[in-house]
Amino acid sequence: MQIHTTVDSLRVARRSAGRAALVPTMGNLHEGHITLMRQAGEHADAVIASIFVNRLQFGPNDDFDKYPRTLEADFEKLEAAGVAHVFTPDESAMYPTRQTYHVDPDPAQIATLEGAFRPGHFRGVATVVLKLLNIVQPDVALFGKKDYQQLMVLRNMVRQLAIPVEVLPGETVRADDGLALSSRNRYLSADERREAGRIYRCLTRIRDAIRAGDTHFDGLERAAMTELAAHHWQPDYVAVRRQADLQAPQTPNDALVVLAAARLGTTRLIDNLEI
Ligand code: PAJ
Repeated sequence: MQIHTTVDSLRVARRSAGRAALVPTMGNLHEGHITLMRQAGEHADAVIASIFVNRLQFGPNDDFDKYPRTLEADFEKLEAAGVAHVFTPDESAMYPTRQTYHVDPDPAQIATLEGAFRPGHFRGVATVVLKLLNIVQPDVALFGKKDYQQLMVLRNMVRQLAIPVEVLPGETVRADDGLALSSRNRYLSADERREAGRIYRCLTRIRDAIRAGDTHFDGLERAAMTELAAHHWQPDYVAVRRQADLQAPQTPNDALVVLAAARLGTTRLIDNLEI
């Protein structure tokens, strides 16, 4: 496995990499990331992982400074997963001049859910991902459904800007109690970690109710918010939406997804389930 910290080094390696799959990450890798790496390997000759904690997508009160950075352990996991190249630029390699050109996602698609609670987040995500795609020029890029709105924004960016890459989604990898794996789970205290599976149980209950024919989405959402609040969570939203555009359901035939975000102590967790 080769480690590249400069754009030039990565580009030289890219030329002889054949069909390449890119998996962008911010590091502190867990089995969710590694599953994406393995899936990437099924679609390409060479898997290229990137590790870059992207300041542009963090708000002023977000956890940029304390975001876990565990490069050496990450390299070991990537090597074991058969990754050929890792791109780990520092900030001056990624943003040698202040980034003043940005990708602005469709306002309608980021006015809701994560976009509503994290102003500027998806602009930062879209900008860095476009930049990574331009640097690596992969044939395929993989993103997890765990970040459902992120996947939607990036798919639409690739489509609308005609970026020559195929976007593939990866299923969410979970712990035994259903908690979606996330680098942020390590902020949880032992007590909070025991409680954290509740968000998944709330989502499964809503999914099962809708599958059984319940269409009172408001009531289902409110009951879940109440349950979370009763167990000392601060929920931002629990929302049943259309898979296609994350807007409110319109017709009985819409394919749906239920999404939630809630804070437990100081840790903000997000999750979703397709219905
Ligand atoms: P990060 O949170 O490190 O996630 C990297 C990729 O792993 C994303 O596509 C994310 O959806 C996926 N992922 C995270 N947890 C997962 C899980 N439990 N199961 C499956 N996939 C999971 O998302 C980002 O970084 C950044 O926004 C990035 C796209 C790298 C741009 O900076």
